[in-house]
Amino acid sequence: HITGGVDGPLAGKKVVITAGPTFEPLDPVRGLTNRSSGRQGYAIAEKLVRDGADVTLISGPVALPTPVGVTRLDVDTAQDMFDAVHAQLPCDVFVGVAAVADWRAKDIASEKQKKTTDNELSITFVKNPDILEAVSKHLDLRPRLVIGFAAETQKLEDYAKAKLASKGCDAIVANDVSTGVFGSNSNAATLVDLDGFTPIAGQTKADIADFLSTYIQKRIS
Ligand code: CTP
Ligand code: CA
Repeated sequence: HITGGVDGPLAGKKVVITAGPTFEPLDPVRGLTNRSSGRQGYAIAEKLVRDGADVTLISGPVALPTPVGVTRLDVDTAQDMFDAVHAQLPCDVFVGVAAVADWRAKDIASEKQKKTTDNELSITFVKNPDILEAVSKHLDLRPRLVIGFAAETQKLEDYAKAKLASKGCDAIVANDVSTGVFGSNSNAATLVDLDGFTPIAGQTKADIADFLSTYIQKRIS
């Protein structure tokens, strides 16, 4: 089947995007998740497909329709998202927008856990794989352009710069979430790459998607 446009500035480019939260089960009826509506990742998928790209959207559980022309693969856990992303390589551009849970339960109960008489409960978590870092540092199939997102409540620019370096990606879109962004149509964002900071503050998620499409066109043409 045909995804993406035959024309448009991104025609012929394969883009893989992660979006939404991940869900890490604790037992059959409970789990750990992150707050993410998925709207930013979906807005980016919609814009890039309109600009001609072949877009695969790897989505955690969200309540959003699939943008027309986008190939969507649904996953729950970070490990499933990691595997789904790697199955899509090689691609030209990777954009990691998902709010991936950093941790998963070390042991997942096969039966619903009953409440006990204790007033405290301890659960051991183990670290999830870092999808953005693994794609950025892939030895054979690193995309030409790897872009991450970072939501921070403080020291936005310092943390974004540190993430750019530690993950080895080409750019990070840093979001200030100190004033409530989740589920809204707007973000306050700054892009950081090796050239420095480009503020894109006070714009809508669609505007950030437009900005990113232009940035991608500049970087991979
Ligand atoms: N990310 C990922 N896989 C993970 C964790 C994060 O792919 N296991 C990606 C996110 O999709 C995002 C970027 O990494 O593009 C930054 O996520 P963030 O949670 O801000 O970074 P962390 O390195 O997890 O740092 P922390 O949560 O401690 O701030
Ligand atoms: Ca994290």
